[in-house]
Amino acid sequence: MYHVNLKRYKLSERVSSSPNMATINDNYLKLKAGYLFPEIARRVNSFAQANQSAQIIRLGIGDVTEPLPEACRTAMIKAVEDMGDRSSFKGYGPEQGYGWLREKIAQFDFQSRGCQIDADEIFISDGSKCDCGNILDIFGNNNTIAVTDPVYPVYVDTNVMAGHTGDANEKGEYEGLVYLPISAENNFTAQIPSQKVDLIYLCFPNNPTGATATKEHLEAWVKYAKANGSIIFFDAAYEAYITDPNLPHSIYEIEGARDCAIEFRSFSKNAGFTGTRCALTVVPKTLIASSADGSDVEVWKLWNRRQSTKFNGVSYIVQRGAEAVYSPEGQSQVKQLISFYMENAKIIREKLTAAGLSVYGGVNAPYVWVKTPNGLTSWDFFDKLLHICNVVGTPGSGFGAAGEGYFRISAFNNRENVEEAMQRITTGFKS
Ligand code: MLT
Repeated sequence: MYHVNLKRYKLSERVSSSPNMATINDNYLKLKAGYLFPEIARRVNSFAQANQSAQIIRLGIGDVTEPLPEACRTAMIKAVEDMGDRSSFKGYGPEQGYGWLREKIAQFDFQSRGCQIDADEIFISDGSKCDCGNILDIFGNNNTIAVTDPVYPVYVDTNVMAGHTGDANEKGEYEGLVYLPISAENNFTAQIPSQKVDLIYLCFPNNPTGATATKEHLEAWVKYAKANGSIIFFDAAYEAYITDPNLPHSIYEIEGARDCAIEFRSFSKNAGFTGTRCALTVVPKTLIASSADGSDVEVWKLWNRRQSTKFNGVSYIVQRGAEAVYSPEGQSQVKQLISFYMENAKIIREKLTAAGLSVYGGVNAPYVWVKTPNGLTSWDFFDKLLHICNVVGTPGSGFGAAGEGYFRISAFNNRENVEEAMQRITTGFKS
């Protein structure tokens, strides 16, 4: 029998004895631990294995639980039938998305709010998370990049992967990034920086804090971006949760934003498409950035080129489902979904407040941001909730150093689970 000499294949020996081996993107080695949500899942799974009778309630990742709106399902079933008939069958669609969907989005999501966005400035994709990372393909490597702290980790990690940062310090902050702290003191809205930054990530309604931005706050950012030649990456994935009629839903409600902002949106959190996958990115044709030789370049052209080369579009069936969001039935069903999750958020806020905790967010956003009690660290509180209450949330420190001492509870679950989780937390805190 043939025996492999395992000793010969020990990694350390392979590394030193194979100088011509393919190399990796070393930037990945700078990343801290796993991506936050897989890391939480790993810890929860190991707890579940050791405690098989525990009825765990997950209010961690912002993943929807309620069924797709009927209007979307009906449209997708019809689209499947289209695919079964040669006369209506679809092969490759346009990489940018079908015109009929882009037109509806332009009209309902932007023009109806006074935003001057045309259908061909809208690019349909399979997710905002993907687009937030992919957008870096078309920007240079020497930009100064600002993120809030805490922040949706995708903005930071994709910049690390792209080599836009140095190493992380012991607090998890990457050298080279500009961190804009947000806390209860500044209403979780960052102060406009005094230094020049080139690319700025803003997310409103905010993940993870549930905070919102007033029109005046966004105006200050647009003014700053225009004065400094900066570009704002505006993540509006949760805009459907805005209940206050005075709050802007889109950065393009601000005059001048067409010249300095890209907006990311998603069907995940309004119509429950987290598993179905459909999103959009808006790149106005008036948005200009500079090439290395100082010439003006239309960003739209680069994104169009990038998408046509690396992406083949979202499936016809899914785009038909997304289109149905804009039908009268779709609009009313989506509204009901949002109200359902917002009622969950209200229950979470009220119960946690009654339990003596300080809570933020959860009024125009599906996330409630909680101050951990008794000086517990975010991960200590995570363990306490998991072990005592069998409830999963997200440690604030996973969103950045300034998230330490906070905890995020998501309103995405069914009513029974939310009520049961709040009951357990209330009792757990009393004992
Ligand atoms: C979250 O929990 O922060 C979200 O699920 C992230 C996402 O939508 O990618």
